[in-house]
Amino acid sequence: MVYIHQACPSVPRIYIYQSTQGKLATKLTMRTVLIAAVDNAWGIGKDNKLPWPHNKEDLEYFKMTTMGHVVIMGSKTWDSLPQRHRPLKGRMNIVISSTRRFEPDAVSFTRLEDALDFCRQEKNEKVFIIGGGTLYNEAIRKRLIDDAHITLLPGNYQCDTFIDRVQFFNSNWRITSLPTASHQRMICERTL
Ligand SMILES: NC(=O)c1ccc[n+]([C@@H]2O[C@H](COP(=O)([O-])OP(=O)(O)OC[C@H]3O[C@@H](n4cnc5c(N)ncnc54)[C@H](OP(=O)(O)O)[C@@H]3O)[C@@H](O)[C@H]2O)c1
Repeated sequence: MVYIHQACPSVPRIYIYQSTQGKLATKLTMRTVLIAAVDNAWGIGKDNKLPWPHNKEDLEYFKMTTMGHVVIMGSKTWDSLPQRHRPLKGRMNIVISSTRRFEPDAVSFTRLEDALDFCRQEKNEKVFIIGGGTLYNEAIRKRLIDDAHITLLPGNYQCDTFIDRVQFFNSNWRITSLPTASHQRMICERTL
């Protein structure tokens, strides 16, 4: 099998490979995407809740961006979702827990890597890691994240849960979208 890695301008990460019989086939690699809102200290939560007042723009962005995709969360984030929003509609919900099971509302795994392998086998193009701190930081530390959508909310909300900013910037990120007048969001992709 001859492998040709070909940059494709419109769809990133398409690999075109050619079998020895000369037939062309394509394989789409899965993107693992972190989506989070952080305060000035990269705090994300307090008392297992979001610490800031309802932020309509960010919640709508979260819904629009993740809709139709898999969302993977830690068990405490699952617990933190209001019951009427659980499971998150229109998305496959995966919950990581070492002890608890969440079927039939969500698929459970004891390890994040197993959840990602499952998503790859199911041929998902994109999966979202949606929190909380334990899961974000594990995924960052293990360099499992390909892209990050981070909403930077001004202020300090005295959080008890954080994204490890130092660890995050241990990787190299190429910023693909910067905050604008209408939102405070940075979108970036990992390059190393
Ligand atoms: N600002 C944002 O964008 C955002 C997004 C999501 C959540 N949050 C906030 O984040 C906070 C919750 O974060 P958190 O760090 O406390 O909890 P979490 O990451 O949501 O969940 C932690 C739990 O997930 C399971 N888990 C995580 N990694 C695991 C692993 N590698 N192997 C096995 N199990 C694993 C464990 O569950 P078991 O104990 O069941 O084994 C662990 O206790 C809340 O305040 C929430 O509101 C903020």
